[in-house]
Amino acid sequence: MLNVRKVATQLKSAVLADPERFYTKQTGAWVAGMPSPQDIRVTTGREPYWINLGYWRDVERVDDTNVERVGELFREAQAQMAHLLAKTARLGPGDSVLDCGFGYADQDLLWAETYKPARIVGVNITPNQVRVGRERVRLTGLEGVVRLEQGSATALPCSDGEFDVVFALESAMHFRTRRDFLREAFRVLKPGGRLVMADMCQKTDRESGAGLRDRLRYRYWRGMIAFPEVNVWTTGRYLSELREAGFQNARLESIAEDVYPAVNTALVALRGMTALEKEPGSTSLHQVRADVHRAMRMRVDQTQWHSLFNCDEYAVVSAEKR
Ligand SMILES: C[S@@+](CC[C@H](N)C(=O)[O-])C[C@H]1O[C@@H](n2cnc3c(N)ncnc32)[C@H](O)[C@@H]1O
Repeated sequence: MLNVRKVATQLKSAVLADPERFYTKQTGAWVAGMPSPQDIRVTTGREPYWINLGYWRDVERVDDTNVERVGELFREAQAQMAHLLAKTARLGPGDSVLDCGFGYADQDLLWAETYKPARIVGVNITPNQVRVGRERVRLTGLEGVVRLEQGSATALPCSDGEFDVVFALESAMHFRTRRDFLREAFRVLKPGGRLVMADMCQKTDRESGAGLRDRLRYRYWRGMIAFPEVNVWTTGRYLSELREAGFQNARLESIAEDVYPAVNTALVALRGMTALEKEPGSTSLHQVRADVHRAMRMRVDQTQWHSLFNCDEYAVVSAEKR
């Protein structure tokens, strides 16, 4: 009976592909080792709760010799992703920033303190994340700079031409639709404003060549992480959508090599170390190291983002409103 209910819930999640549902009920459970929404505790406001895959180019990769430090290394790579977007946007003092899909607001605290923009407005569809984010902004004394709103990136509660920079850090694949967001981002940017995103897509069309069984499998797993089918784009489609929305200087810079293999290994380590901590006896450090060793040797097409979601590209997307 329980299993029937579990399967029904999973199918419902896959069909709905609803990010609010995913981030309210499922994130932690889905990626073992990540804190689930109920486990989020805010004391100082500086506890890190990043949700992105991490930019691992300059971060020590997780391997079978350092599994004990997976949490620390993962968080460092996740913060590096936020720095990469800030640098791409040439974020600096005086900038008025809109951040769409801010998670628990880690990136807003980091951008506010490191790059000193005049203000950051965050928009997020998940109420619990907005609540936690606001609490962190209050505790870190950033209320004068960061304002967090509940809402959708596809219907922004903002005026035309309000911002110098619009960010979407690993969130646009969820937006229903990403295309609507691009139009909204263009509307709220000032002339000369920059759109910068970290996002996943396909280098070339990987769907039409796949068999029916594979296509259904990808569809199921993408639904499970609230990635609607309408957002499954190739790089070429992405660039043409940016241009159609009015943007110029559109670019997709691949960082897939510095994201997917490393995060695949890190998640195996995180899962193992979490099991070791929460259910001692269910595994051993030796076993976790062996699993990580195997993950390190996976071919890229065996890694999670390829095999479940059929995504082989992870890019820094940037464009300008002239
Ligand atoms: C993968 S998480 C990334 C969070 C954060 N950028 C980080 O790096 O920790 C995706 C985020 O997008 C948000 N999101 C999904 N759909 C949204 C929408 N339509 N409008 C605004 N935020 C949305 C989710 O609530 C979640 O916070």
